[in-house]
Parts: sequence; C-alpha cells; structure tokens
Amino acid sequence: MKDIMTAPFLVEMIRTCTNMYNHGWDERNGGNISLMLDESEVAEYGDVKRVLRTIPTGFKAPSLDGKYFLVTGTGKYFKNVQYEPAVNLGLVKIADGGENAQLLWGFTDGGKFTSEFPAHMMSHAARLTVNPSNRVIMHCHPTNLLAMTYVHTLDEKAFTRTLWQMCTECIVVFPDGVNVLPWMLCGTNEIGEATAEKMKTARLVVWAQHGLYGAGVDLDEAFGLIETAEKAAEIYMKIAHLPLVNTITDEQMHLLEGRFSVKAREGYLS
Ligand code: 13P
Ligand code: ZN
Repeated sequence: MKDIMTAPFLVEMIRTCTNMYNHGWDERNGGNISLMLDESEVAEYGDVKRVLRTIPTGFKAPSLDGKYFLVTGTGKYFKNVQYEPAVNLGLVKIADGGENAQLLWGFTDGGKFTSEFPAHMMSHAARLTVNPSNRVIMHCHPTNLLAMTYVHTLDEKAFTRTLWQMCTECIVVFPDGVNVLPWMLCGTNEIGEATAEKMKTARLVVWAQHGLYGAGVDLDEAFGLIETAEKAAEIYMKIAHLPLVNTITDEQMHLLEGRFSVKAREGYLS
C-alpha cells in the first residue's frame, strides 16, 4: 500500500490550505474544506475497511452514504496543516444514512471534522444533483467579501451584478452568480440546509458578516471562484466611496457571454 502522504489528493489539500492561509482568508481556525474521493483513490493509500473511530454527525444525508471525504478538523489552523496533516485533517467514510462518519485516517489527536460539517455535506449532496462531477466544498473568511456584506445590499441579484461589474472576467468565471444568506448561527444544521438550498443555483454562497462558501469539481475550481469573487469585492471596497464614472455595461456583459460561451444567470442582465 502506498504512503498516504504521497497521495496527490492529500498533497493538493495541504497546498490549498496553505495557500488560503497565505491569502489571509483563514485566520486562526477560520475556514474549512471537504474533498470527496472515490473508493479506488482511497484504497490505494489506506485500508478502507479499518475504522479507527465512528463519529456521529447529527444529521442525515442518505445520498452521501458510503462516500469518502478528506476534511479539515474543527478548531484546526489552516496555517498548521502543512506541518501536521494527520492531526489537522481526517479521511472519513459517511455511513448510516449520513448519521455517522467513520474515521479511516487522521485527526490523530482525537479531533473531529469541522463544525461546519452539516453545511459541507448538505452542500455536497445539493451540488451533486446539479453537477455529478462536483467534489469540493470550501469555506473561508475573505476580507473584502466580508466587508462588502456590511455596506452593500444583500439582494442576490444586486450583489452579483456589483461583483460582475468590478472585473471583466467575473461574469465568465461565475456566470451563475453569487447567492447570499443573511447572518445565521454558524455550525448548525439550519445554516447547512439553507446553504445547500442556495448551492442548487450557484457555486458561491455568501454568509453575511461571516464569509463565503465555494463549490467546484476540484480544489482549483473552488479556490479560483473564491479568488475571483474576492478580487472583485476588493475593487468594490476601493471604489464604493468614490463617484462612479465608468462601469461594465450590460451590453458589454452580453459581448462577454458570446466571446466566452457562457450564459449569465437568467434575468440578471437587461
Ligand atoms: P471549524 O474550526 O469548526 O472548521 O470552524 C471554522 C469556521 O470557519 C466556522 O465557520
Ligand atoms: Zn467560518
């Protein structure tokens, strides 16, 4: 059996956590990632039958039964993932209709998966119904997007249009737009269910005054979505207090749709 420390999925996860920390999106234990893996990928690196511990989840997710996830630990610092991956990350198999997670590797200090596990698992289930290739749910606290939720309306169409107008490539990268949840108590099944519902129509979901969720077919896609939206929010926060002289018009957005073969979210452009 191969050494799990050489597994491409683990190497990429470690690099992503480090990169997110370096971007300033994941202070202290802020943020969490879950990456869905196929049994064949996992079996190359570990015994998928040997359950180290069974951890109750507190929710049901029947469609994820038997699925494998590499996930960040609760209270763990992204900064430290690169130094002690086996402490800060865990590999789990979802069992009993989602009510339990069987730990196969990691969380070696007795830790467990992120407190946002409900939002992650429910969002995976929701994204898989839209795109069966989805593998990643990523949560973080990007500064400018968070700042924007204090000064911009939380109306999803208006929020999306503002971001699209901040950089030419935004509409190309996230034509599905950004959905927004009002402030809700984090770490609960309720915010998990609300996030999953929002994930059915967009791969980015803002948690007002908290942070952002991104979904993708791989770590790069989820990271790139967040990176692009955060860049747009940064520009917004630089100009919001200044008189607006120019913008990207809806006519120009339509040109981008044609040039890059994307379709903006229905009803979001005039
Ligand atoms: P965890 O440490 O439980 O992953 O929580 C971090 C966080 O960002 C909560 O929203
Ligand atoms: Zn958070």
